Amino acid sequence: MIPQEERGRTLREELRALPALVGEPPPFDPAEVPAGPHELFLRWFREAVDAEVPEPHAMTLSTADDAGLPDARVLLLKDLTPEGWWFASDEASAKGRQLAGNPRAAVTFYWGSLARSVRIRGEVTHGSRAQAAEDFLARGAGARAVALVGRSGSPVDRAGVDAEIDAALRRVEADPGLVAEDWSLWCVHATSVEFWQAHPERRHVRVRYERPRGGDAWRTAVLWP
Ligand SMILES: Cc1cc2nc3c(=O)[nH]c(=O)nc-3n(C[C@H](O)[C@H](O)[C@H](O)COP(=O)(O)O)c2cc1C
Repeated sequence: MIPQEERGRTLREELRALPALVGEPPPFDPAEVPAGPHELFLRWFREAVDAEVPEPHAMTLSTADDAGLPDARVLLLKDLTPEGWWFASDEASAKGRQLAGNPRAAVTFYWGSLARSVRIRGEVTHGSRAQAAEDFLARGAGARAVALVGRSGSPVDRAGVDAEIDAALRRVEADPGLVAEDWSLWCVHATSVEFWQAHPERRHVRVRYERPRGGDAWRTAVLWP
């Protein structure tokens, strides 16, 4: 590897010179937001789809382990319902174990070309077995085979991975209704949702919706950038 200094500048200088928040924020008036965050999220999400933001449904899910140490990874949003934001994964994965011990999470979306981000916090509950099965069966055969092996995050000998997945693929093909026992859907029941949009002079716009768990009425506040 070429040391950074030989490229004429240090990594610190290179980082500082990189452009940031170069997206073009669409018109957004924080005084004119809907009563609840779901509607505003959908509006922003559709604008991200229309602007062809790559993988606009990709989101960072943050959880904490038994020691309170945060962990985070990227997942796909599976649905948005009045209950909240849904995602799917393996119960035996790190996130599954962390959520079993501490069913609270934060979710972050970043839509770079629109210079927008949304962050959501709340308690997490499981969907039903039927919902998990429906999600699982909608996955491609390859993805089902990997989930069926159910060894998310456990150390493996890479050479043995293909043989194990191929065997699982044969099971999937032989039984197309097969559902991995550990596959699960979770829902983040938001108690706080913040919409953030960049401003060219760094006078960023922040609108936060908050409500207590189980409460119906959302309170909104415009926040200092
Ligand atoms: C764009 C993208 C989408 C992903 N979607 C999912 C998903 O929907 N479900 C999932 O379990 N893992 C998904 N992953 C993999 C996770 O980031 C992660 O590696 C995996 O779930 C294991 O996480 P854990 O060990 O923290 O439980 C995705 C990764 C990327 C980069």
